[in-house]
Amino acid sequence: MVQDSEELSLGQSTLGPRSLRSYAAFAVLLVLCLSYYVLPSDFPSTWTTTVRLFLKQEETNVSLNTAIPVEPWKPPEPYCVAYPQKYHFIINESEKCQKENPFVVLMIPVSPNNLEAREAVRSTWGTERLVGDKRVSVFFVLGLPTSEDKEKLQEDLLKESEKYHDLIQSNFWDSYNNLTIKTMVILEWLTVYCQNATFAMKVDSDIFLNVKNLIHLLLAAPKQNYMSGLVARGAVVLRNPNSKWYLPKTVYAPDFYPPYALGLGYVFSMDLPQKLVGAAQLIKPVYIEDVFLGLCMQHLRISLTDPPNGALFNVFPVIYNRCRYSQLIATTTHSLKDQVEFWKDLQRPGPYC
Ligand SMILES: *[C@@H]1O[C@H](CO)[C@@H](O)[C@H](O)[C@H]1NC(C)=O
Ligand SMILES: *[C@@H]1O[C@H](CO)[C@@H](O)[C@H](O)[C@H]1NC(C)=O
Ligand SMILES: *[C@@H]1O[C@H](CO)[C@@H](O)[C@H](O)[C@H]1NC(C)=O
Ligand SMILES: *[C@@H]1O[C@H](CO)[C@@H](O)[C@H](O)[C@H]1NC(C)=O
Repeated sequence: MVQDSEELSLGQSTLGPRSLRSYAAFAVLLVLCLSYYVLPSDFPSTWTTTVRLFLKQEETNVSLNTAIPVEPWKPPEPYCVAYPQKYHFIINESEKCQKENPFVVLMIPVSPNNLEAREAVRSTWGTERLVGDKRVSVFFVLGLPTSEDKEKLQEDLLKESEKYHDLIQSNFWDSYNNLTIKTMVILEWLTVYCQNATFAMKVDSDIFLNVKNLIHLLLAAPKQNYMSGLVARGAVVLRNPNSKWYLPKTVYAPDFYPPYALGLGYVFSMDLPQKLVGAAQLIKPVYIEDVFLGLCMQHLRISLTDPPNGALFNVFPVIYNRCRYSQLIATTTHSLKDQVEFWKDLQRPGPYC
């Protein structure tokens, strides 16, 4: 099917796209009509749906949708993403952001069962809620638990939410391949419930974050069309199916990604969530959430901003040293234990360097 559509798109240069499309549509319709009578009724609907992918909308409803009962199109798992789609919040903390009136909101994606990571953040950088006169809000973002004990886990989450009022939960299944949905839900939530903040940051729960330095960066940052972090430029699309970030050409054809800010922690001005959600309705989603935002930024023609120095955001764990950690903004660590210990050590009085 893929090869077919590739050949077709090659042929367009000589045939012209319109005549070719009509020709293809006609041929396909003919085959479909025949197959409706000839093929058994349980013939898989996948190839009719694949066919629909390269037919224009008005050509598809003429007979495909009416003559043959076609199931709603489902993305072939696991490289496609169930977005855009209407998700709703199970836990929304609809008032919290208004009440706290933050300068920056920290949005932390975390899996439902990872209480340990939430507790680590709550006991360390999640407590830093005021820097100068700038307020910081902190929220954890989850989907639905999928584990065997999901009912019990959901009960625990509701209790945890009552206790801390820092959980936001949406009704998609929480899984690694659904992280793009989580990121988009984060942006949707910000658009609806936190419009008055100046900046937001998506930061992973296993990150060491220096909140003071983050605020200092943001005080000097533009309040519009601003996204920064560790910006990857010219990143190669991984085509080895064994790679954690494998993406087949059917999902994304170019060899390189546009610039994007690595998912460990990126900051953005609060005009962007709405723009990104808008762009995301028009772009084929990929399950790699940070790459997807890069694609949305490219669509919006907004360039990413490199941080003022390359040591601020770190994708590889930085070996602990008070001086170095007093100067960075974010780094991965080897463990939650490290994350907590480094933060505690940085709080003790005495010179940093
Ligand atoms: C096809 O369906 C869409 C959406 O239902 C509709 O807007 C459009 O007019 C239809 N086109 C034709 C040719 O019937
Ligand atoms: C937000 O949550 C509250 C409390 O659960 C609920 O009453 C309200 O309808 C929710 N709002 C939306 C838009 O989901
Ligand atoms: C946002 O800020 C403006 C100006 O400070 C204020 O009037 C408005 O009530 C705020 N809105 C929310 C939702 O907090
Ligand atoms: C992602 O979430 C959607 C909505 O809940 C679900 O249908 C889909 O199976 C999930 N995908 C994965 C890979 O978990």
